[in-house]
Amino acid sequence: MRDSQPSTIYLSDYRAPDYLVDKTELTFDLDPQATLVKARLKIRRNPAVARAGESLPPLWLDGVDLELLSIAEDGELLPAQRYQEGSGGLSLNVEKPEFELEVQTRIAPESNTSLEGLYLSNGMYCTQCEAEGFRKITFYPDRPDVMSVFTTTIVAPASFPVLLSNGNKVDSGTTDDGRLRITWEDPFAKPSYLFALVAGDLQYVEDTFTTCSGRDVKLQLFTEARNIGKCAHAMTSLKHSMRWDEEVYGREYDLDIFMIVAVDHFNMGAMENKGLNIFNSACVLASPETATDAAFQRIESIVAHEYFHNWSGNRVTCRDWFQLSLKEGFTVFRDAEFSADMNSRAVKRIEDVTLLRTAQFAEDAGPMSHPVRPDSYMEISNFYTLTVYEKGAEVVRMIHTILGAEAFRRGSDLYFERHDGCAVTCEDFVVAMEDANGADLKQFRRWYSQAGTPVLKVTDTYDPKAARYTLTIQQHTPDTPGQNDKQPLHIPVTVGLLGENGAPLTLDESGVLEMVLHLTESTQNFHFDGIKERPLPSLLRGFSAPVKLHYGYSTEQLQFLMQHDTDPFNRWDACQRLALNTLYTLQYQYREDGAMQVPEGLIQGFATVLDNASLDPALVAKMLALPSAQEMAEHGESVDAAAIVAARDFAKASIAGALKSRFLSCYQQLDQRKPYQPSADDIAQRSLKNTCLAYLCVDGDRDGLALAKAQFERDENMTDVAAALGALVEYAPQGDAVEYLESFYQQWQQDTQVVETWFGLQSSSASFGTLERVNALMKHPAFELKNPNKVRAVIGGFAMRNFSQFHHEDGSGYQFLAEQVIALDKLNPQIASRLVTPLTRWKRYRAPEAGQIHAALQHINESGELSRDLYEVVSKSLS
Ligand code: TRP
Ligand code: ZN
Repeated sequence: MRDSQPSTIYLSDYRAPDYLVDKTELTFDLDPQATLVKARLKIRRNPAVARAGESLPPLWLDGVDLELLSIAEDGELLPAQRYQEGSGGLSLNVEKPEFELEVQTRIAPESNTSLEGLYLSNGMYCTQCEAEGFRKITFYPDRPDVMSVFTTTIVAPASFPVLLSNGNKVDSGTTDDGRLRITWEDPFAKPSYLFALVAGDLQYVEDTFTTCSGRDVKLQLFTEARNIGKCAHAMTSLKHSMRWDEEVYGREYDLDIFMIVAVDHFNMGAMENKGLNIFNSACVLASPETATDAAFQRIESIVAHEYFHNWSGNRVTCRDWFQLSLKEGFTVFRDAEFSADMNSRAVKRIEDVTLLRTAQFAEDAGPMSHPVRPDSYMEISNFYTLTVYEKGAEVVRMIHTILGAEAFRRGSDLYFERHDGCAVTCEDFVVAMEDANGADLKQFRRWYSQAGTPVLKVTDTYDPKAARYTLTIQQHTPDTPGQNDKQPLHIPVTVGLLGENGAPLTLDESGVLEMVLHLTESTQNFHFDGIKERPLPSLLRGFSAPVKLHYGYSTEQLQFLMQHDTDPFNRWDACQRLALNTLYTLQYQYREDGAMQVPEGLIQGFATVLDNASLDPALVAKMLALPSAQEMAEHGESVDAAAIVAARDFAKASIAGALKSRFLSCYQQLDQRKPYQPSADDIAQRSLKNTCLAYLCVDGDRDGLALAKAQFERDENMTDVAAALGALVEYAPQGDAVEYLESFYQQWQQDTQVVETWFGLQSSSASFGTLERVNALMKHPAFELKNPNKVRAVIGGFAMRNFSQFHHEDGSGYQFLAEQVIALDKLNPQIASRLVTPLTRWKRYRAPEAGQIHAALQHINESGELSRDLYEVVSKSLS
């Protein structure tokens, strides 16, 4: 609890800034405990809000954890009565409509464990300013609608040979006392959140990209020397991204240099600072020996994401933070399409939808539920959410689906042209899409303002005499905190119809096999004429809208869709539905009398999938993966954690037993030894191979474990090694598991990213990752509470990816998480606030768990003064 409650900020209170900053000149004299920051700002009354004859309002400058040394106006030191320092900033009495302000402050990067503002990571200086971190560097109007041209001078000891900031290097030299001095100039006006500075003893790899208009851009990737061999994949990904954005969106890069820096201490994945992207090392560094396929693909998509922000975010930025999805939703959509073009489109879609269904739907149904464009917040860092990012991307995807690819491109062209250099809103984006196409998205806009996951109920009728098939679709969006009266949304539902022999039916006279139904009312009928047999509907193809869809499919119908649907996403989805139905049946049996039996349908279905040689192996792997315990928990009410775990374990063992010979022959067929390539085909083969391996090891099967051991010892690439080690840790006798883990650690202890993998494998293992072991990992010399990646690997792995141990019936998992969150909040509020998420879902659980989780939350709440970040989440979750 705290003395004063943090205040709530409302979108409806938005006012344009009173003053603009035309120019920002920064000078940094770097020192771990006493960095001097000089900011010279050319300030001017904002003409858009000025009135003739007015008296000038005070100027507000945000500032947090700063030591103010001096403040001068047009070269004159200001007397104390001209300004008041308050909490969170400084208010200045203004006397003229245009003036130059010079502010000197002192900061201590070494003591900054929040990882926002200027901080040190492994002895290297770096910054993170989004969303409101610039105010920890100097006093400034730290809001995205204030855009300024930045010049940055860095002075540092000679032991920091690499000194970077945004834009182009315009000057360099040495100071009288032998320190290095470099000046950077960014010609593009930008908000303070895109400012970046890096200083360190770094190495780099370099490449060139020739843009569509023939300009050469220098590409540089900076890391500590030990990681210089892990840059190639990110560099390739960057070049692919640059080409793709030219080809698909007509967007050319605008500076002569583009830099990426890898840092080990980072709160998120990466940051799109203009011309100087800063990355979490785990999201940029990779080599076949040290990184898994998943890491290679994550790097490709994050490099693309940050690069794409140069247009969707930087050239056109957000007016205020309520508009965050303007840049994030759009950019996630862009990077998802890029990844789909580079790899298997269906598999990428399946992965994104799985994330959405497991985590975003849960967020939408929980205490922090908010619209894609939130209308209030206490702490904006809490709104870098799955809703703003992933659901926001789905909203953009729906516009793409409703308008079609060409019209969407006309809309994005108009958007970039109209708003280049401006700070705009989600509304501006929708208007550009409408104006470019004469389209009407009036009702569609509700997707931006209405929270919650819509539920669709579909029924159908067939009239053989009239040859007419009718789909009836109902929509309903449940209440969410603060929103009780949901209006119908405009929902694009992509459908196809399958005939009795499995062939697609034509849907109208034009002969199309698939169409988009525009659901706009609470209940609506859609007729298909000329349908000569009763069809089976394939609904919501490609997951055309972020909704929950119910249709009473029988087991046979799902098996039929798994085999015949032309839409690969829906084939997978049919398989998932079948698996979920099975798991619910098992859960029920477990609770009734404990005697479980897997219905035939699922095993038959899996067998057919494994036998179908024409399917993409990556798709097969996805189909064979049971829905996670987390996903099952999010689908249910009154969740019984023990029943979920029992049902999944039983289903896994039954499938493994029934299909053992198939898994084995599939494994052997795919286990070809060839040099590692992160190509879509090879990744697909490894993913199916390792899925088979995991099934072969279930319940400690001796033959399976022998295969895993051999694969582990062959040590060909990290994908295969980590998969084998994962299976061994889960299913081998624990003494053996400890041995494998130890030898792995001996081999890789120098490699930060591999050690993170090693931590994560253990903490997330259902059988191995007990609370006792997790506590031991936290005492391991390689663990660091101040490093978010380590925290995510050990504590996050346990609380978010180890369902059975975290939900241990004695409640110890919840208490443990509460203690860690309390400790972390003192170091890094953003990480504490994210890590508490599993405790916020207490209402979904059965009585004993719900009470235990609630008590853990209560304990946090009573532990002392919480950060604003943690306070917002905890207080909203308790109420
Ligand atoms: N804009 C970044 C992205 O999505 C997000 C980000 C990086 C961020 N670091 C952050 C957000 C720190 C909040 C705090 O690419
Ligand atoms: Zn982003």
